[in-house]
Amino acid sequence: MTDMPPIPTRVDDIFIPAEEYGDPAVDAAERERLWPKIWHMACRQSDLEVPGDFVAHEILDESVLIVRTGEGDDDIAAFYNVCQHRGRRLRDEPKGRVGPTLACRFHGWQYTREGELHSIYMEDDWTDCPAFDRDKLSIPSVRVERWGGWVWINMDPEAEALDSWLGAARDVLAPFHFDEMRPVFWKTLLAPVNWKVIAEAFNEGYHSGATHTCGINYWASRSPTATAGRHSIFFSEGEGFSEYRNEEGKWVKAQTMGEHIWANNRHLYSTLHAMTLDPGLAASERLRDMPADSDPAAMGALLYQFNREEIEKSGASFPETMTMEKLYATGTDWHLFPNSIVLPTLDGALWYRIRPDRHNRDACIFDIWSFGRFAAGKEPKVENEIFDGFEAFAGQCEFLEEDFANMQAVNDGMKSRGFRGATLNPVQEGSVSNFHRALREFIGGD
Ligand code: FES
Ligand SMILES: [Fe+2]
Repeated sequence: MTDMPPIPTRVDDIFIPAEEYGDPAVDAAERERLWPKIWHMACRQSDLEVPGDFVAHEILDESVLIVRTGEGDDDIAAFYNVCQHRGRRLRDEPKGRVGPTLACRFHGWQYTREGELHSIYMEDDWTDCPAFDRDKLSIPSVRVERWGGWVWINMDPEAEALDSWLGAARDVLAPFHFDEMRPVFWKTLLAPVNWKVIAEAFNEGYHSGATHTCGINYWASRSPTATAGRHSIFFSEGEGFSEYRNEEGKWVKAQTMGEHIWANNRHLYSTLHAMTLDPGLAASERLRDMPADSDPAAMGALLYQFNREEIEKSGASFPETMTMEKLYATGTDWHLFPNSIVLPTLDGALWYRIRPDRHNRDACIFDIWSFGRFAAGKEPKVENEIFDGFEAFAGQCEFLEEDFANMQAVNDGMKSRGFRGATLNPVQEGSVSNFHRALREFIGGD
C-alpha cells in the first residue's frame, strides 16, 4: 500500500550487456523461470459475459482456460487447457461458450466449468483397475484474480497475491476505474522481433524526439522515469509550447498554452485513436479557444473540468474517485512487469501486452488496446484484428508505425558483434534498467 505516487529518480545502473538480448539461454531461462511465475493479464472481464463463456490464454507452450462459472463477478475458474486422458487440448479456439460441461473432442471425457472431472466415456471399462484413481483426474487449476477490468492468472501456486504483485501501481492507477472502460479497438500485431525489443520501446519516452516526427516536434520534451518495485513509469515534461504540423501541413509553433495542449491531444486523437477520444478532443478544443491572455497556470484545472464535462455530456460516467492531483501525479506510461504497459488518461487508456512467440525468439505477439468510457449501450462492438508483420499494420496508427519503423533494425542491430550492450539514459531510461533488474531476479537468481 502506498499513499504517495512514485517520483522520477535517476538510475545509475545504465549498462545492459548484449547477452541479455541476444543469448538464447536467456530466453530459455525466461521460459522456465519467468513466464510460469508471473501474473498474466489474460482477458477482459467483459469477455466472460455469461456463465459458460471462456477464453484460452496462450503463453509459449501453455494454454490456460478461463471460464465464467456462475453469475457472480468472482465466479471465474482457470485451469490448464489439457485433457487428463491423453493430453488433448480441450479447446482449440481462443474463446467461446460451453454448457454445464466441456467435452474433450478426442474420446469424449467431460469436465465441469471448474475443470473437475465430470464423466468418463465407458467408465465401466476401468472397473477393478488398480491403477485407476478417479480422484486424480481433475485438471490442475491455475490461480485467477481480477484487477482493472482484467482477469489475471498465475501458474505458480506459491506466487504472491495480485494485489501485492501490483503494489503501488494498483493504488496510483485505481482512480482511473479501468473496469468501467470498454475497448475502442483491439489490434494484435505478430511482430518479427524479440518481445523485449517491443517492451523496451514502449516503456520509455526518450525516443520521442527522434522517432515521433510526423505531427509534433518532441525534441524539447523529456520523459523522466521512476520505479515502483518491479514496475516502472515515465512522466512527460516539456519546455515551452510545441511546434506542430497544422491542417495545411505547415510546421507552426503554438502561441498559447491552450493551443499547445490542443495540438498535442489532437495529434494523439488523429494518429493513435487512443488516449484522446471524442470527449478529450472536445475538451482540448474548448481550451484552445480560451482568450490568449488566459493564465497558463490555470489551464490544467480547466482542462480537467472540460474533460469531466465532455465525458458526462457523452452519457459516460466520470471516474468518481479521480481528482486533478491524482491525475497529474500518475505519470504517462506504466510498465507493469513484465509484459503489460498502460498509458491512462481521463478519456480512457492505451494498453499493451507483449508475449514471446512459442517457436521463435525473434517474434512476439503484441496486443494493443484503446479503451474509452461510454454510456451504457453505446459501447462499440470490437473484434480482435490481427496483423501479420509490420507491413500489414500500415495505415492503422501512424504514431505506432513510427515506433515500429525502429523495431526490426533494433532486433538486427543488437545481434551485431559490434554491439557491446545498451548504455541507458539514467534520467529517461531507468524504466529499461529496472525492467532488466527485475528480469534478473527471476532468471538469474541475483
Ligand atoms: S484425450 Fe481427452 S478424452 Fe481422450
Ligand atoms: Fe514511441
